[in-house]
Amino acid sequence: MDIIVKNDYEELSKYTAGIIARTVRSKPDCVLGLATGSTPIGTYKELIRLHKEGGLDFSQVRTFNLDEYYGVGIDLEKPYEADQSYARFMYEELFRHINIRQENIHIPDGLTPSPEEFCAWYEQEIRNCGGIDLQLLGIGGDGHWAFNEPGSSLGSRTRLQALTQQTLDDNYESFYKKAGIDRADMPHFAITMGIGTILEARNIIMIANGVRKADVVAKSIEGPVTSQITASAIQLHSGGITVVLDRGAASKLKGLEHYIYVEKIKRQFGFEPAD
Ligand code: PGA
Repeated sequence: MDIIVKNDYEELSKYTAGIIARTVRSKPDCVLGLATGSTPIGTYKELIRLHKEGGLDFSQVRTFNLDEYYGVGIDLEKPYEADQSYARFMYEELFRHINIRQENIHIPDGLTPSPEEFCAWYEQEIRNCGGIDLQLLGIGGDGHWAFNEPGSSLGSRTRLQALTQQTLDDNYESFYKKAGIDRADMPHFAITMGIGTILEARNIIMIANGVRKADVVAKSIEGPVTSQITASAIQLHSGGITVVLDRGAASKLKGLEHYIYVEKIKRQFGFEPAD
């Protein structure tokens, strides 16, 4: 596991976008797993800049988003007129600014009348595309990956999941309050990729920003692997793992000094690509 500690959110975002950009350049038809939330916004901004100023080409890239609220959704032909769906978030924060093809975008359908069938289809579609090359992940205040709330099996697959109070509170503060939506009207369920699904991605980048995440980051990386902190499944992943943190999010890691040392000597010996 590579643990990279950056000075601030801007550096974290640039570094993360750099990893994604290298993946796109080395495999133009790569399959990216994408995340929503406030943390990846800076990464998406940087990817947009790399597209506009550096010609980063998304024309063959395929994407699968981690999750979507259940009971909300959008008409993909008119994505900007939608509500607080994650689909709308993705269009506004990334997709409409880059040259990705609409048919290559996959986001769980928050309006499906049969979630079970839809979830099976989503899993199959990931397989049909050859699996996810690089999965971007945040970490929730309750330690979740995507909407795999505490108690989710570490082998879980894409499914409908009830949200915890903490997730509802976090999302209310980050998104719904600003949109003037009443707390009671927020969706209480989501369709989410499972932890088992996520662990099949060939490479994983987990990002976290701010001291508010320090506890849960330390628990996920250094604590026991547990379904109570589903991001702790990162310790089970067999492929490439990069955790990118700012100083605040890294502040409770017991092994912080060691991780910084490892990054330094890896760079020194040419293992780590330059920023
Ligand atoms: P955040 O959410 O980026 O808004 O903190 C992260 C998550 O819930 O995965």
